[in-house]
Amino acid sequence: MTDTMPDRGTAASLLPRRISRRAFMIGAAAGSLAVVGGCSRSPGAIPVTPRAEAIELVEAKRPHTGRTVRATLTAQANTVDLGGPTARTLSYGAELPGPLVRANVGDQLEVTVTNGLDTPTSLHWHGLALRNDMDGAAPATPDIGSGSQFTYRFSVPHSGTYWAHPHTPLDTDRGLYIPVIVDDPRERADYDAEWIVVLDDWTDGIGASPQQIFDQLRSPSRNGMDHMPGMHSMPGMTASSDSLIGPDGGDVTYPYHLINGRIPAAASTFSAKPGQRIRLRIINAGADTAYRVALAGHTMTITHTDGFAVRPVQAEAVLVGMGERYDAIVTAGDGVFALVASAEGKDGLARAVLSTAAGRQPDPHLRPAELTGRVVTVDDVTADPSVDLGELSAPIALPATLTGGMARYDWGINGRRYPDVEPLTIHEGQHAILRFTNQTMMWHPMHLHGHTFQVLNANGTRGPRKDTVIVKPMSTVDVAVVADNPGTWLVHCHNTYHMDAGMMTHLDYA
Ligand code: C2O
Ligand code: CU
Repeated sequence: MTDTMPDRGTAASLLPRRISRRAFMIGAAAGSLAVVGGCSRSPGAIPVTPRAEAIELVEAKRPHTGRTVRATLTAQANTVDLGGPTARTLSYGAELPGPLVRANVGDQLEVTVTNGLDTPTSLHWHGLALRNDMDGAAPATPDIGSGSQFTYRFSVPHSGTYWAHPHTPLDTDRGLYIPVIVDDPRERADYDAEWIVVLDDWTDGIGASPQQIFDQLRSPSRNGMDHMPGMHSMPGMTASSDSLIGPDGGDVTYPYHLINGRIPAAASTFSAKPGQRIRLRIINAGADTAYRVALAGHTMTITHTDGFAVRPVQAEAVLVGMGERYDAIVTAGDGVFALVASAEGKDGLARAVLSTAAGRQPDPHLRPAELTGRVVTVDDVTADPSVDLGELSAPIALPATLTGGMARYDWGINGRRYPDVEPLTIHEGQHAILRFTNQTMMWHPMHLHGHTFQVLNANGTRGPRKDTVIVKPMSTVDVAVVADNPGTWLVHCHNTYHMDAGMMTHLDYA
């Protein structure tokens, strides 16, 4: 759980701190130490390189409130109750999702992770433009060995809805995930209540294990795949024809879809008062499923995606790929309403309940009409002017062509499979257009660590700031990147199985 020190933050201390002469000297001294000290490296220590110096300089420029938010997490085998069925899995406790980590912009987060697993783990701060050596993904941050501890320590740069999960690939289809919320005390809070909605596709400890699924997907002849629980017998066969991500929703059929760790028949209930304005923070922590999310009887106003404000847009439903987040405001009606996350291009749904009055529970199988109303996707949202990246100057081209297919399960980027990759490179201060060209028959939610890019819509209009964007089959998405966070950053598909098969590369600062 989060334990906080008294808030000493003031508006003034939120302003970027000048790089003091002392900070610069420390950086310089550390840099020369690397030359003298060579490669000797104590366990857990980050090697001091020119890159380490650049990381310190950028960290010093981030906002600093002087307040520290501490939390501890232990990754271990647990039995979790999904609302009837129980699953033996890996998690940060008996509850899904794991405990919320919440801080203000400019706070120092200090989160100690103890690895109680018998394999390495890590905690990746998905979407946060944090210092590279605290990203929680190898090689920027070394994994935490079995039985060891590591403390992630960094200044939180931006407000918004984030989450964290390990970057040891198949473990991202287990129960190791937490919501991360960053508040900006200067933001006018135009809502009365907040509802964090974490979506997840679930098999571990119920159906096939993530390892069994991955082995089966990779096996050269997938004969008998139809009989394998957990496998999509024939891609596209069960998919609804109006799928927004193409006929093939995913590679895996899940026994359950969860909202906040609960199956539909045992949905969690959020209580509010009629007329209250509720901020939904929707996080897709799934491994292979996009969700179309709607609240029966309500229209949503989409206000943010991936932490960053958008021009408010009305929606009856919103499409959320793995790793993406959408925030929405609803004005609560009077009664009991189903919040439904329908698995896009698959069968099945997840649900929760909004209750503002006594009333009958909605039918667990209800598919509200809103699901087929106005569905907002990335194409319908535009960055709020306050977070628009502006015109790029002399942008370089970073091509990321998405390659591979189901038959050989050889998902890659630019025809290469991680770690056998040629990294994309950029210089600090440069502007770039990262082009995702999808040459496959499958959709991919593409994620860049350490940056929030701006989607450039095909028709020339400016899209939202995002860190994860859906790239539909056989289509291209351009995103604008400003190179302001030196390090080595992963770029990958947020489908757990595609990523583990190799659909991942680096963006390296030269
Ligand atoms: Cu959500 Cu590379 O991760
Ligand atoms: Cu993919």
